[in-house]
Amino acid sequence: MSIRTIRQIIEPKIVIEGAGVRLRRSISPHRTNIFDPFLLFDHFIFDYPIEGPISGFPMHPHRGIETVTYMLDGFTHHRDSLGNSGTIGPGDIQWMTSGRGILHEEMPRQDHNGRVNGFQLWVNLPKAQKMAHPQYQEVTSQSIPQIDHPGSHVKLIAGKIENTAGPITDIAANPLYIDLSLDNHSVFTQNTPGEDTVFAYIFEGRCSFSKDGEIVRATQLVHLDKGTQVKIFSDTGVRLILVSGTPFGEPIAPYGPFVMNTQDEIKQALKDLREGTFVK
Ligand code: CO
Repeated sequence: MSIRTIRQIIEPKIVIEGAGVRLRRSISPHRTNIFDPFLLFDHFIFDYPIEGPISGFPMHPHRGIETVTYMLDGFTHHRDSLGNSGTIGPGDIQWMTSGRGILHEEMPRQDHNGRVNGFQLWVNLPKAQKMAHPQYQEVTSQSIPQIDHPGSHVKLIAGKIENTAGPITDIAANPLYIDLSLDNHSVFTQNTPGEDTVFAYIFEGRCSFSKDGEIVRATQLVHLDKGTQVKIFSDTGVRLILVSGTPFGEPIAPYGPFVMNTQDEIKQALKDLREGTFVK
């Protein structure tokens, strides 16, 4: 058993995306691909009603990736080029596999307290699946298993804990995706495949990853080293997202909302968009 230690602590950067949406971004697509199979992690949070209307992300394409939207508060309305539309609310998840191409719109909507609080994770697709048909897995909060032990509360979105499996399945990156709450003075332990990429995003409170280890706090992303077990120690309570996935070990060519393996494939995506053959 080897405990995963902290490799890097990342302070999210404030970036403006879409039609002027302010985000906290901790991972963005880069050729170095150090988070393989993960490409991007954004926290979108608005809790100031005086901020005015939230413009959102008008129609845009994706190819070669999966976009995962998980809401804590508020809503995201979406519609796409396949004719799908809907709204996801608190505790709901949408796992969108773009495959060869999709055009979609994602519009955050405030709840009655003016809050929008959610996450978007981009997961890479391996070469063999980048041009597959697009598909969705959309799961409401009621269908997400909750696993409670004294001091720890897990919402299991993807992956397996004990004998329970999360509702999101058949994802190439073999992910674990959990929303974890720890009470005061509690410890959480999770086994992970030793070579998988693991990160945690702390969005409330603080914790450490070894007894009396370095304290990390909301909002920070922690990239963990290789190892077969994650241990999280909470003295005053914490909420975080814990994610693991199996690296593909393939080169990536990121370009805006596309992530392919080569520049030629990016050129092809742009050509397909120009010629109106992007969405089949
Ligand atoms: Co999108």
